[in-house]
Amino acid sequence: MSITVVGSIHVDFYIKVERFPSIGETLFGRGFQISPGGKGANQAVGCSKLGEKTYMVGRIGKDFSEYLLENFKKSGVDTTYVKIDYEHNTGVAFIILNITTGENMIVIDPGSDYWITEEDVNNALNAIIDSKIVLLQLEIPMKINIHACRLAASRGKKVILNPAPASPLPEEIFKYIDIITPNRVETSQLTGVEVKDKLTAVKAGKKLIEKGVKYVVITLGSEGALLVSSEKILYYPSFKVDVVDTTGAGDAFNAGLAVALSQGYPIEEALIWANASAAVKITKVGAQTGLPLRDDVEEIIKKNPNYRAEILYY
Ligand code: RIB
Repeated sequence: MSITVVGSIHVDFYIKVERFPSIGETLFGRGFQISPGGKGANQAVGCSKLGEKTYMVGRIGKDFSEYLLENFKKSGVDTTYVKIDYEHNTGVAFIILNITTGENMIVIDPGSDYWITEEDVNNALNAIIDSKIVLLQLEIPMKINIHACRLAASRGKKVILNPAPASPLPEEIFKYIDIITPNRVETSQLTGVEVKDKLTAVKAGKKLIEKGVKYVVITLGSEGALLVSSEKILYYPSFKVDVVDTTGAGDAFNAGLAVALSQGYPIEEALIWANASAAVKITKVGAQTGLPLRDDVEEIIKKNPNYRAEILYY
């Protein structure tokens, strides 16, 4: 089976700093680089690098089309449903990477991401039919996300929504979602519950279950991740690694989760894969260049034979 990713495709402009600038301050950075990015594209490349056949559905401008299509090709992503938009520029992201902490600040101009249409998604129906999983994020218009979720659900596909960047979700979308994967901030914004610790995360997760989602996976950065369903609550500690760049950690996590599920792992095990995939990513610079191969994920899991999820009884 395959995975279809419907979402954003960017060119990332990276600059490294030793600390973030203050408002009004000009700071010298270094190591400027241009690299492929966008949450949708990162997740598609992540799935493909982990060994799953992956289709990308999205739009790019003419300006960076050769560069981005070549990059997808190198990563093995099927670009049949990536449309070149001759009227709009490719979406871009300006990323300031703090090399002291591995944290980042990102500003996006979505460009052609915002011009994807329902027809573009309908044109990709064969990809959706061929897939077990459809993976989405929130860097394209909400209307298109709802349409893609509805279409995928109507064909019996598993829908994973990574609700990033944080944005309010219309009630209708929840019934189409099998798994939602917000981070701490996104969870707080979606539920109104301030996520401060595991207990508040579980409380927020339960609110999302009440809305009709089957599984809620809350990513907690260096503190790991939490699975909340109507049957169980499991806590997954993070793998301990040296943090270099957290950009794209969520993308690596979602790619790992989608690939493991597509290959038949139950969600409880797929989340070990997701955590391992994110852990490998943050040891390398670049949203996409740092995404792991299957061997990298298997190696970190092998190196941690005692890694276990913890059952929580809240
Ligand atoms: O998740 C990381 C991504 O967010 C970057 O590649 C950037 O393009 C933004 O979309």
